[in-house]
Amino acid sequence: MNAKRVLVAYGSKHGATAGIADEIGKALRADGIDAVVLPADTVTDVSGYDGVVLGGALYAGRWNGKARRCARRNAGQLRGRPLWLFSSGPVDSSAERRDIPPVPGVARRMKKLGAREHVTFGGAVTAETSGRIAQSMVRHGKGGDFRNPTRVQAWAHHIGNELSTPH
Ligand SMILES: Cc1cc2nc3c(=O)[nH]c(=O)nc-3n(C[C@H](O)[C@H](O)[C@H](O)COP(=O)(O)O)c2cc1C
Repeated sequence: MNAKRVLVAYGSKHGATAGIADEIGKALRADGIDAVVLPADTVTDVSGYDGVVLGGALYAGRWNGKARRCARRNAGQLRGRPLWLFSSGPVDSSAERRDIPPVPGVARRMKKLGAREHVTFGGAVTAETSGRIAQSMVRHGKGGDFRNPTRVQAWAHHIGNELSTPH
């Protein structure tokens, strides 16, 4: 049997979400899946993939625009295939302590596209993050890297399992 092909697309402004997408891609490849990781704004055709994982950074309660537009642009093809969504957001440990539901826009998109699941992962704002608000957060001790590779990998392996099992 040929390896399943999966696209991991991400909408990231400062790189934290790209890092999560890379981690997902690596874990899927370790499961024997042919995973391709791409910035969401470059995705124009998902017809060649057996499944898609689409993630976006959260800014002011919304998914990053590149993830939103990717979902809209590819809606027709996304609807017909296994789809998982994730958000990268909280710059604290809240995503570790409880399941954080999707923001309303992502919840609507999830329903429209028939996505199987959504997960919120902790995000990152660090001294390297550009932007006035980000730098002010760091100065006031409100920054940090709350991404948890172990949790991200576990979710990716769960996706790998689902793809290998008839739905
Ligand atoms: C200006 C600004 C607004 C943000 N708004 C939210 C928000 O509404 N909800 C949330 O969970 N995280 C919020 N965050 C945290 C980011 O989502 C988090 O840092 C994310 O991992 C950034 O991803 P990126 O580096 O891929 O752009 C915000 C961060 C900044 C700097």
